[in-house]
Amino acid sequence: MSIKTHQYEVVIVGAGGAGLMAALYASKKASTAVISKLYPSRSHTGAAQGGISAALGNIEEDRPEWHTYDTVKGSDYLGDQDAIEFMCFKAPELVYELEHMGLPFDRTPEGRIMQRPFGGHTNNETGKPVRRACHAADRTGHMILQTLYQQCIKNNVTFFDEFQVLDLIMVNGKAAGVVAIEIATGDIHVFHAKAVILATGGWGRVWEITSNAYAYTGDAPAMILRKGLPVEDMEFFQFHPTGIYKLGILITEGVRGEGGVLINDKGERFMERYAPHVKDLASRDVVSRAMYIEMKEGRGINGQRYLYLDVRPETVNKYAKIDGRTNPDGTPYQVTAEDILRKLPDIIDFCKTYLGVDPVKEPMPVQPTAHYAMGGIPTNIKTEVLADEKNTVVPGLYAAGENACVSVHGANRLGTNSLLDLVVFGKEAGIHAAEYAAGAQFEPLPDDAADYARSQLDAILNSKGNERVADIAKEMKHEMMDKVGVFRTEEGMQEALDKIRELKERFKHIHIDDHGKVFNTDLLTAWELSNLLDVAEITTASALARKESRGAHSRDDYPKRDDQNWLKHTLAWRRENGEIELRYKPVVITKYQPKERVY
Ligand code: FUM
Repeated sequence: MSIKTHQYEVVIVGAGGAGLMAALYASKKASTAVISKLYPSRSHTGAAQGGISAALGNIEEDRPEWHTYDTVKGSDYLGDQDAIEFMCFKAPELVYELEHMGLPFDRTPEGRIMQRPFGGHTNNETGKPVRRACHAADRTGHMILQTLYQQCIKNNVTFFDEFQVLDLIMVNGKAAGVVAIEIATGDIHVFHAKAVILATGGWGRVWEITSNAYAYTGDAPAMILRKGLPVEDMEFFQFHPTGIYKLGILITEGVRGEGGVLINDKGERFMERYAPHVKDLASRDVVSRAMYIEMKEGRGINGQRYLYLDVRPETVNKYAKIDGRTNPDGTPYQVTAEDILRKLPDIIDFCKTYLGVDPVKEPMPVQPTAHYAMGGIPTNIKTEVLADEKNTVVPGLYAAGENACVSVHGANRLGTNSLLDLVVFGKEAGIHAAEYAAGAQFEPLPDDAADYARSQLDAILNSKGNERVADIAKEMKHEMMDKVGVFRTEEGMQEALDKIRELKERFKHIHIDDHGKVFNTDLLTAWELSNLLDVAEITTASALARKESRGAHSRDDYPKRDDQNWLKHTLAWRRENGEIELRYKPVVITKYQPKERVY
């Protein structure tokens, strides 16, 4: 394999919302390259549907303080309150910045950005849902991605599309670049940098039913672990309540924001029992758990593992009347089939395509789907990566977006806060990485900078066992879904951990069929599976150790939140002997003392 070398002051890994926002800002001050395993506009940010949160108050009164409190409460008090406040107060400015870049938000009749309600976002005085999600129909993430990519092209950001980053180069304890394979040719490239920003997204592909793209394989956290650095709060992985049954494809929470309701086999709107105040618009952990309980107690549709999400106009109008829901002008809230088609065109299309179901005429079969990583690479508000529980900064290394844990989502993220997280902290990453680069030298690269990356690929190419990548992946996903999903127990998680370790052993004996250089997806799928196994192992070990229930981590054997012992962040390292070491650091609490969450 030949090696090509490039030099940029700032190198960004990943071209979703966080990577592109970072690129826009870094490139104003520093030579910048974005390396992405996908063509940028195929990044998973494009799958985010319902909106981006900001207390604009365009439709009704709203305040950044309320957004901050809702996010702290939604996080089950595990989110760092300084970071949450920073994000929620930045939100209006960032949304207007996107608007000025040309993002085609839906509009109110007066021409303001349109907003809809989303789970856990409330008027803090009435406790009722507030319209805080700014949206472009049900393709808000897609519009953000397209807008930011166009801006990056306009600003001459350099892209290396379809390059898979395999390794982070560290010299003298500082980030000094990355090693990547050019997927089209199989050539190895070394990117020498003063600062590296990691923005590779999440790892929902660890689970069997997921809303996540095939590309979501935890590449950056796995790379960080291999460098002896920790990951944070990995036990907290969100299940979105409404994925298409069996497929996991996201059906936006915006459906419930527009008045859709969840219905069980008895025709009951069961969320009335679990969250009497906000019902279907409770936070995701609450709704997903309620759905599991309904199904476990035999009220899944026809006794099966799914429920109905009903957005037919007659249903929406019936429950809007019961709830006393009104339009901003005080008139009763009512929708027509045309309104639903206009507001939710993509999910109507998905349901027709994948299920043969027209949501305007029939309810949609849904089940909770693995959706979002609250944990990830620890960072501070400047997005600098942290090396330990004392918050020691790793010079030159930054992370933003879903692969990072800043931590604004704590134990459970509120819907629409992910798109906000990636634009707010993507921008911070770009600004701070470029500032750092301006005062730093290029560290001299070692001659063997690419050796470790090559050795990882060679190990897969030369492996001559009988194990198949697809079989190992299938078993991992099944085990994680069953035992490290919405509900967890000590016994189940221990079994899952043992299984993951067995699968890691079996992975050493795989064989792949394609030994060529050109578009060798067989090789790269195997490499991605090794990342998923590492992430699955550390998720399970972190979850097993946390003996309480909080947010998305819900244990049958420890059903209560335990602030006395567990109001703290997990940091997890994989040591050279393969052992996992767990340490903890305090949660940043500024204004809001933990209390019981009532929805
Ligand atoms: O339901 C949704 O549209 C998803 C949004 C989110 O995860 O923030």
